[in-house]
Amino acid sequence: MKAVVYKEPFKVAVEEVPDPQLQHPNDVIVRITSSAICGSDLHMYEGRTAAEPGIVFGHENLGIVEEVGAGVTSIQQGDRVVMPFNVACGFCKNCVAGHTGFCLTVNPGFAGGAYGYVAMGPYPGGQAERLRVPFADFNCLKLPPGTEHETDFILLADIFPTGYHGCELAQVSPGESVAVYGGGPVGLMAAYSALLRGASKVFVVDRVPERLEKAERIGATPINFAEGSPVEQIKEQTGGEGTDKGVDAVGYQAQAGAQQREEPAVVLNSLVDTVRATGMLGVPGLYVPSDPGAPDEQAKRGMLLVSVGRLFEKGLRMGTGQCDVKRYNRQLRDLIIDGRATPSFVVSHELPLDEAPKAYEKFDKRVEGYTKVVLHP
Ligand SMILES: NC(=O)c1ccc[n+]([C@@H]2O[C@H](COP(=O)([O-])OP(=O)(O)OC[C@H]3O[C@@H](n4cnc5c(N)ncnc54)[C@H](O)[C@@H]3O)[C@@H](O)[C@H]2O)c1
Ligand SMILES: [Zn+2]
Ligand SMILES: [Zn+2]
Repeated sequence: MKAVVYKEPFKVAVEEVPDPQLQHPNDVIVRITSSAICGSDLHMYEGRTAAEPGIVFGHENLGIVEEVGAGVTSIQQGDRVVMPFNVACGFCKNCVAGHTGFCLTVNPGFAGGAYGYVAMGPYPGGQAERLRVPFADFNCLKLPPGTEHETDFILLADIFPTGYHGCELAQVSPGESVAVYGGGPVGLMAAYSALLRGASKVFVVDRVPERLEKAERIGATPINFAEGSPVEQIKEQTGGEGTDKGVDAVGYQAQAGAQQREEPAVVLNSLVDTVRATGMLGVPGLYVPSDPGAPDEQAKRGMLLVSVGRLFEKGLRMGTGQCDVKRYNRQLRDLIIDGRATPSFVVSHELPLDEAPKAYEKFDKRVEGYTKVVLHP
């Protein structure tokens, strides 16, 4: 089958790889109809991880079940399903507690597993014609048959739940103001989720015009960090107080100022300054324990200079980590089915699998409006 294979920094290719096989009675094989490219894929694409050439990318996957293992009970051939990017068992201590992003079974020696991702276990990605899904009863979320809402439902694999998770970590509640740093797919989904949860005022900080326009279109206030301190711009619009809550949807490759100089702690420190005393921060943006490409020695070891003193002084609380997609995907699916959520406004491009190399290049450069790309094998 054809698949998107990582070759070297800034290069992927569409190549023939072996078809996936059922390896366990609890597996299913899914014929992929949609697989999206994620900002998390860019960390690998840019050579900022230990990802080896040959890895098949793709952790945001939707398709039709083609083969079913003998031990699978709730999923049948022909079912239309979307999978959380987390591979999880459903029965370990963390899964039982709802922390499916930290499954203890699927990736020995590590808490958490994912498709097509470095260090996340032996699970090839779904930017391919087919995908093996382990523990299929647990990992497949059934969708209505047909093709309706395809570009809404694909976002249930990661970014809609992840944006929602950012708001859950910050306990965004009705009437509150929220500052979302990052207007990429995750940031836009965080802002959208904040509005769904009844936030009164939502700011989205970025510098990419098309992303700020999308933020404005859903009713958020765009803040361009290249035009001046985002903290000051938000304070000006909140009577000098700052927001009740904040979400970091940028992560460790954060940039500072108009020069786009990389400064890994800039967003965390901006959030500490933006959010009012006793507020809360949700940090779905990815941070890593080691990053050879980091701009300074400490950051190479995942040590960032964050003002813990200010965090204490303001009595701020913070939550972070991988999203437990399974915790939210069913409820968010039903909001889509009932017409109460249409996250697909974030999708900028739908392309055949063969165009993945071009899509990666443009999404990585954040040019030509490339915000969220859905590949259709
Ligand atoms: N926790 C999880 O489970 C999870 C899941 C998916 C993605 N992620 C992570 O979330 C982050 C965002 O993902 P994405 O797909 O939206 O990526 P993305 O790279 O498309 O978006 C990041 C955005 O941040 C903007 N940005 C850079 N510096 C900034 C600054 N100082 N202030 C404000 N904005 C700034 C960039 O212009 C870009 O638009 C990534 O780190 C990704 O790895 C985490
Ligand atoms: Zn993703
Ligand atoms: Zn588990």
